[in-house]
Amino acid sequence: MPCHVFVTRRLTPEAEEKLNAFCETEYWGEETPPPYEVLLEKTRTADGLVCLLTDPIDRDLIAHAQNLKVISQVAVGVDNIDLKAAAEKGIPVGHTPDLLTDATADLTFALILSAARRLNEAAAYARDGHWKTWGLTTLLGEDIFRAKLGIIGMGRIGQAVARRASGFEMDICYYNRTRKLDAEEALGVSYLPLTDLLERSDIVSLHVPLDQETKGLIGAAQLERMKPHAVLVNTARGAVVDTDALVEALKSGKIGYAALDVTDPEPLPPTHELYRLPNATIVPHIGSATHTARNNIALLAVENLIAGLQGKPLKKQVK
Ligand code: DGY
Repeated sequence: MPCHVFVTRRLTPEAEEKLNAFCETEYWGEETPPPYEVLLEKTRTADGLVCLLTDPIDRDLIAHAQNLKVISQVAVGVDNIDLKAAAEKGIPVGHTPDLLTDATADLTFALILSAARRLNEAAAYARDGHWKTWGLTTLLGEDIFRAKLGIIGMGRIGQAVARRASGFEMDICYYNRTRKLDAEEALGVSYLPLTDLLERSDIVSLHVPLDQETKGLIGAAQLERMKPHAVLVNTARGAVVDTDALVEALKSGKIGYAALDVTDPEPLPPTHELYRLPNATIVPHIGSATHTARNNIALLAVENLIAGLQGKPLKKQVK
């Protein structure tokens, strides 16, 4: 019997070609995720599942899967998957670290630059006919060169952001659950407790995975500690920040700016107040959205899946 794989969205042509050559595949062809009942039904009989971060791979779904040998996520973050339930059933879970690190760090930097120099507001100002002359105090933003950068989460992406920041001669500190002495030595970054980092940084950038410990890590109390001109950048997961507290902090001037690639809820509904705040920039979770990165992660997800179906160790398995 050929193995059967359910894929919750279309992949890149190269990744699909590789997957189709190996097994019988069924793709969910819509832009939006399959409804939960469809996901449940398809996973019930599939030998393998390729999924995205928008698919809730929960305990119930895993319990109902009769033949599932591998779950392969096309993303590095796996907060949508019940890893414990998968482990209890002996189902390995693959993900796609490394290949999206640089794309995500680049986007982080784009957001830092855009927020600190108010590019959204400036573009709208020019477009909407407010540009009458060169104004000495028009659209003033914050310095980025030699600014104090606080990185929360010093994993692969946090470190890649630090490498970019050193080109801007930034003074970089970080907070992480465990200290990263190798990164401290290699990148010249210094460890600070979270509160100290928030108090001293001009720019705070989030790079932690979403889990019980990091959910709501940045709430009202933390935003209160930040500088009034500070920039908060989130390219990690939306729920790391308390959205209501952020709206309040941006409105009341407790912090200066926010630039978000991820939101809670996600997608952020078009009527949400955040879109109307001039000091907030929101982009639709495009951290890894380059042609190269997305093709590479799709290919790696397929390789993880094939390895799992063959009973071999996955190339990148979630530990
Ligand atoms: C991930 O991989 O977890 C990102 O959020 C999507 O690129």
